[in-house]
Amino acid sequence: MTSVQSGTSGLTTTRAPFIEQAQANGQLYIHQPYELYSEANHDAWRRLYARMEDRWRRYANPRFLQGIDNLCLDPAAVPRLEDVNRFLSPLTGFKAKAVSGYIPSFLFFDCLRNREFPTTITIRDIATLDYLPEPDIFHDIAGHVPMHTDRAFADTLVRFGDCAHTAVEIASGIRNEDERIRRITSIMKALARFFWFTIEFGLMRDARGLKVYGSGLLSSYGEIAHAIDAPEVQRYPIQLEWVVNQYFEIDHYQPLLFIVESFDHLFELVGELEQWMRDGRLDNVAGGEPEVSPADLRSFLEAAGHS
Ligand SMILES: [Fe+2]
Repeated sequence: MTSVQSGTSGLTTTRAPFIEQAQANGQLYIHQPYELYSEANHDAWRRLYARMEDRWRRYANPRFLQGIDNLCLDPAAVPRLEDVNRFLSPLTGFKAKAVSGYIPSFLFFDCLRNREFPTTITIRDIATLDYLPEPDIFHDIAGHVPMHTDRAFADTLVRFGDCAHTAVEIASGIRNEDERIRRITSIMKALARFFWFTIEFGLMRDARGLKVYGSGLLSSYGEIAHAIDAPEVQRYPIQLEWVVNQYFEIDHYQPLLFIVESFDHLFELVGELEQWMRDGRLDNVAGGEPEVSPADLRSFLEAAGHS
């Protein structure tokens, strides 16, 4: 195996030779070569973390704040996944698992089902602290993983992972290929929308008012405040029939957010989503974003025994 030069780019998003090599070798699951992080990478983490702290205290759900405490993250350096897991696993059995980038969606769901969270190890460039279309370690570890320390939330993710297996079971029972592809595509769209409007951008009301539990918001300095304070954002109690039919776009602040009552409520909704899938109620959801990519579709069809 050839060695990788860290150069000066370290493990910076879209500029990391180590990641390029892993992808070229077809390795989805990797280790975290901690020595490759550059000083600029640690500096990016430091700055991102420092400016989020006040915002979290003000806008984040209390379970997230508890999670941040439980993980004992170092504000001054990119975390080592093994350190994160040492605190995380005893609480809920979840583990952060290093990946080289995009994971086909069935595999992503399957990881959740096994209490593994596919985790990006690169970090954004200091010049783009505010906006990054792809996930990075700040989004994944500081935005997602603190929620995984909470038992109810962790169980919800596992339940969501189960939904992919239900989808595969349904797909396996459809003989006509065109019909199989049409229905599984619709189901995948519905699942992606549900994930987006809850796990990534969810709000919850508690005794202190409206708080954020979605990781896309928890890792965004600008949007976490916008989600709660901006008068133009539409915020509505979650309705399953709306969420699964609602398109979303990823390149701007979300104009529409949904509120759950509690994590028990969220858990029940995933159960309802699965039942709707079994009842055929996700077979014809409204068109529009997100598009289901050929690789994601293939991952489901292969799991169902069709390629
Ligand atoms: Fe995310």
